[in-house]
Amino acid sequence: MNENAAVSHFNPGKGAGSSVGVAILGYGTVGSQVLRLMVENADEFAHRAGGPLEVKGVAVSNKEKHRGSLADELGLLTDDARGLIEREDIDLVVEVIGGIDYPRELVLKALRAGKSVVTANKALVAAHSAELSEAADAAGVDLYFEAAVAAAIPVVGPLRRSLAGDRILSVSGIVNGTTNFILDAMDTDGVSYDEILAESIRLGYAEADPTADVEGYDAASKAAILASLAFHTRVTADDVFREGISKITADDISAAKAAGYTIKLLAICERLIDAEGKESVSARVHPTLVPHDHPLASVTKSFNAIFVEAEAAGRLMFYGNGAGGNPTASAVLGDIVGAARNKVFGGRAPGESTYANLPIADFGDVPTRYHIDMDVVDRTGVLAELTKIFAEHQISLRTVRQEEKGEHARLILVTHAAREADLARTVEALAATDAVLAVNSVLRLAGE
Ligand code: HSE
Repeated sequence: MNENAAVSHFNPGKGAGSSVGVAILGYGTVGSQVLRLMVENADEFAHRAGGPLEVKGVAVSNKEKHRGSLADELGLLTDDARGLIEREDIDLVVEVIGGIDYPRELVLKALRAGKSVVTANKALVAAHSAELSEAADAAGVDLYFEAAVAAAIPVVGPLRRSLAGDRILSVSGIVNGTTNFILDAMDTDGVSYDEILAESIRLGYAEADPTADVEGYDAASKAAILASLAFHTRVTADDVFREGISKITADDISAAKAAGYTIKLLAICERLIDAEGKESVSARVHPTLVPHDHPLASVTKSFNAIFVEAEAAGRLMFYGNGAGGNPTASAVLGDIVGAARNKVFGGRAPGESTYANLPIADFGDVPTRYHIDMDVVDRTGVLAELTKIFAEHQISLRTVRQEEKGEHARLILVTHAAREADLARTVEALAATDAVLAVNSVLRLAGE
């Protein structure tokens, strides 16, 4: 047992049929869908929660922007989020603002005031789960965040509850729709990264500032949340190795295709076990070559998919819409009903569980596999010279492919698994030789 068991309050519940007062913080794409669905399905939600859910207020920064909206028609708009949270008739606070500092302040305030919180905010949960969970535990209230990972796809709940009786070995998958859309278009239509990124921004699929998606920050937050849940260990976004897709070229895609792979931005969370049986956790996000026949290779457009491997359950795959107003609202509403039911009947959902407290593996020690694409001088002995460098670093080669490229040669090598640091040092040694003219790309492989 550890500090997770030290919950200070037992919540006896308000009693069957009692109403649950809800505050919604934020009225963008998600907040407006949450309110609409709560109003449209009020009767059904009352049955499912055990009492009516009454939205008492919707906090926004600028009320004028939302004139004529449903929240305005219902007289719910307020620009005083702090005041709304503190109201006696609020039992449950829904945070769908985004960002970190301001929602952190509001969520902590709500938890400390004894309100349960539902949030869709992955960056907040991935950065501050310790502080938020402690506040929820101290007040004996719920902190739900299903929508923070892959929106409509239920994966937080299954990891927290359905798989609580199993031992999870790995959780990996495609958890960012924008980058999957971009990589899929590059693979299917042969367009360049810059072209499809510009098009995605124009169509509103990607944010005007796409950094969080394309550089892997969004996926790293989700990986931190998944790894924490899977391995009962606190993992923050800073613990996640992260590499985005902005350097992927049309050449990388076609080389991968020719070798039988598709490039996906994967979040990979693994339980590592060393030769002495010592366990650690690795969480990483990077472009990854997956074989064409792997189920993740067929996840196209902006869909998400998460693979869970557990000791007894075997392999499970969760697939669906990982973004968007309605899919995110679906996950938020599921959490609202769950948290409201606990307010009505008492008790709490499982809180943060960090009892295993496994060390985070150094990325250099993690076993990975490389696909290396180089331009080399086309002369006698070059292949022997370069393969010797692999042997010197204890790296075993799996495949070697050479093509003519003008006066030079293009060499594409795939390695067997080895320590990441040894692979990286091998590439440095290769690049330092006169035989290697350019290292075009180094990509990692998974899924075989
Ligand atoms: N921007 C994310 C994506 C959705 O493209 O999947 C929110 O996490």
